[in-house]
Order: sequence, then C-alpha cells, then structure tokens
Amino acid sequence: MASILYLTAAVCFIFALKGLSSAESARHGNICGICGMTIACVSAYLDIGNFDVCFVLSAVFIGGIIGISIAQTVSMTNLPQMIAGFHSLVGLAAVLIAFSIYFAPDLFGMASSTGMNTFSLLEMTLGSIIGAITFSGSMVAFLKLHGSYKEHGVPLKLNIFFASSMFCSLIYFMLTKNAVAFFLSTGCAFILGASMIMPIGGADMPVVVSMLNSYSGWAASGIGFTLHNDLLIITGALVGASGAILSYIMCKGMNRSLRDVIFPSEQEVFDETKTSQSKPFKLGAPEDAAFILKNASSVIIVPGYGMATSQAQHALKEMGDILKKEGISVKYAIHPVAGRMPGHMNVLLAEANVPYEDVFELDEINRDFSSCDVAYVVGANDVTNPAAKKDASCQIYGMPILEVEKAKVILFLKRSMGAGYAGVDNDLFYASNTMMLLGDAKKTTESIVKVM
Ligand code: TAP
Repeated sequence: MASILYLTAAVCFIFALKGLSSAESARHGNICGICGMTIACVSAYLDIGNFDVCFVLSAVFIGGIIGISIAQTVSMTNLPQMIAGFHSLVGLAAVLIAFSIYFAPDLFGMASSTGMNTFSLLEMTLGSIIGAITFSGSMVAFLKLHGSYKEHGVPLKLNIFFASSMFCSLIYFMLTKNAVAFFLSTGCAFILGASMIMPIGGADMPVVVSMLNSYSGWAASGIGFTLHNDLLIITGALVGASGAILSYIMCKGMNRSLRDVIFPSEQEVFDETKTSQSKPFKLGAPEDAAFILKNASSVIIVPGYGMATSQAQHALKEMGDILKKEGISVKYAIHPVAGRMPGHMNVLLAEANVPYEDVFELDEINRDFSSCDVAYVVGANDVTNPAAKKDASCQIYGMPILEVEKAKVILFLKRSMGAGYAGVDNDLFYASNTMMLLGDAKKTTESIVKVM
C-alpha cells in the first residue's frame, strides 16, 4: 500500500515540475505539488506505523502557520532570499536526520551504526555533508540577497584546506566509524559551504540559489538511500536534477560556465566604484514620453527589477491597453535573469493580466528591436547593458542582452543614474536616442497614462 502511495506522490511531483515550467500551467503545477506532498506525508506516517500522532500534528500545525504567515507577508522582491532561507532548512534537516540515524538508529528501525554496511554509512555521511554545505551556503546567499552581507574574497587555499580535511575525515570515518571523524567532516562541510559562496558576485546569485536547490535535493536523496525510503530518493533526485538543469539554463542565459560562477576570478568581484559616471544625458518628462509613445507604431516594453520594486505592472498594462486601442503594436520583452529570480517578470505581468501572447523571451524578441519605434525600459538595467557585449573586463561580459539600443527611441524609467545589480554603469543612459525618465517607475507610468 505504502509503495503505491509513494509512487502516486512521485508522479504528482513530476506533474508539478512540468506545470511549473510555464506561467500558464504554474497554478496547476502547484496544486499537483500540494497533492503529492499530502500523499507523501500520509504514506510516510502509515509506513512508519508507530508514531506519536499529537506530536506530528502539532509539528504540522506550527510549521503550517509559520509557512502561511511567511507566504502572506513576503514581498515579491524578497522571494529569492525566502527561497534561499527555505533551502537552508532542507540542508539542516538532512544533517539532523543523518545525526539521528548515527546516534539513534533504532528510531528508524535500523541496526546500530556500527552494524551499518559501508554503502549505508557512505550515503548517510554524503547526505550530512551535502546538507551542511547547503545549509551554510544558503544562509550566506540569504544574507547577500537581503543586502546584509557584501564582503568577498576567501583565499582558494583555505577552501582547498577545508575540502581536503572534509574528505580525509570522511574516509577515516568510513574506515573506523569514529564519531569524531563524522562530526569533523560535517563541521568542515559547514565552513566550506559558507566560504564557497562568500566570494561569488551579486549578478551570479540566481545561479547560486538554484545550485543550492540542487544540492538540497541530492542531500535528501542520499538520506533516502540510508533510510531505504523510495519516495525520498525519487523526490530528492527530482529536486537535484531540476535545480542542476535550472542552473545550467541560467548560466546559458548569462553566457557563463558553472565553473566561472563557483570559482570567480579576482576581476569578476563586484566593484561598486564603477558606477554612475557624470556625463550629459537627456532628461524627459511624462508629457514628452506620452507624446513619443502615442506617435509610435510599435512599442516594446522591457521590464526589470525596478518594475518589481515599484509594482508598476498594473500601470504598464493600462498604458499598453491605451496604446493598443490606438492601433500601436505593444510587446513585452523578458530577459531570462531580469529581476531577482527565474520567471520574476512573467509572474508580475501575469498578475496584471498581461496576455501571454504579448510576452516574448529574449531569443524571440531581440530581432524586433531594430524595427521598433520605442523601447520602454521599466527598471531594467543590466539586462539591457551593451557593456555585456563590448567590455571584456566588466562583470556581465558575455551575458546576452535585450538589444534595446537598436530601437529608434529608448525611454529609460529609473530613479537615478546609478548602476544595476552587477554594479556596471550603462552607457545607454547617455546615448543620443535615449530619454531618461527619472522617478519611481509606477508613478512615472501613471503620470504618462494621465496625459495620454
Ligand atoms: P538591475 O540591473 O538590478 O536594474 C534594476 C534597475 O531598477 C536599477 O538600475 C534601479 O535604478 C531601478 N529601480 C529600482 N527601483 C526602482 C523604482 N522603484 N522605480 C524605477 N526604477 C527602479 O535589474 P535587471 O536589469 O532586471 O537585471 C537583473 C540583475 O539581477 C542581473 O544582473 C541578474 O544577474 C541579477 N539577478 C537576477 C536574478 C534572476 S534569476 N532574475 C536573481 C538575482 C540577481 P535606480 O536605483 O536608479 O532606480
């Protein structure tokens, strides 16, 4: 019975992942995920048989309340750090389960740790090590995304030292089953997780978060082998594989290799001093922008992180509808790493009921900029920065960009002449065909709508 339920839950998770791969089916995907998780919990309790119902229900209740209150209060802009925070819990859970298996194997109906075979010991230790790396790495990612930590630079030698100590203690533990070696390998993994993420630059954080997501899956899978729990093995592998694929897709989106992300060179480290040159630029008012937009025949809207912070999506939709009524073609261009998490812009546009057929990915829309009259850039910066094509020394070099510079007129909505997430100045602000509309993106768009 438990096996059939486990299989059903695994199928639900596969459908959940399939659903989450596009904005149209994401809601359906979430429902499949919720069903899968409910079946998984019930079947795990049935499988275990002898457990304290009150204790489990209290844990589910308290966890549920915390989850609901976080989901209701977290803002869209803080979702990446929330995800990093949740990954850290998966890692910590893997470490705690591994320690429970080692110190109280009878709780899991297992033989004592000294009687465990080599494979079970290896799976348990790997689960614990990967979990520890995930925990501390995700905590550092959380602090960085939250803006509480910006330091970089951990000597490579130190990382090599901790990595070698971790592997040596792992091997010693496998040979002797010595508890101190088990503690030591996990302790080194905790330090290694943090020190590996500390030097990684801001623009690479999305890849780091999805890579940690992948780690948390493999940690769960490793523990699943030790516990002989098929569902944990399958679910962990699904999370591990999907996180790895997402990291690969994002690296491709930024034209970077995973190796370059994990081991950044000295020049790649974020340099805040590179921002904000004082050069002449053209400053416009909402009236100017309204005039230009109404006289265009095609407009491409390019949303970025600033749209999310100002919550300008509804005002944008209203502006787009007015333009469409006048017979002007309106399209939305989405960069794969625009905003602060995968699909960030798609979610916000969907929330404002922007039709899916008006939303285009980078590869589909880039050739349209050369024939478009106006590129309306709403709080996007790095994803439009031509330095990514020209300046080999800048942090975003090689990242494909939305080629807004090819449009006849570029309207740039942002609050200042400051740089974006990667800290690289954008020469487009000073281009002859650019008009800067400085101020909050939502307020500026609303003012444009008013005078249209
Ligand atoms: P950014 O390059 O960060 O630019 C956003 C711009 O929005 C800033 O220059 C900011 O300028 C402006 N802004 C902020 N608040 C605003 C407001 N209320 N009204 C108007 N403008 C506002 O964003 P992007 O172009 O979307 O690029 C994304 C960057 O984030 C990339 O470097 C990417 O690698 C990184 N990243 C992406 C992800 C994912 S997966 N999407 C996750 C983490 C990091 P002002 O301050 O002058 O207003």
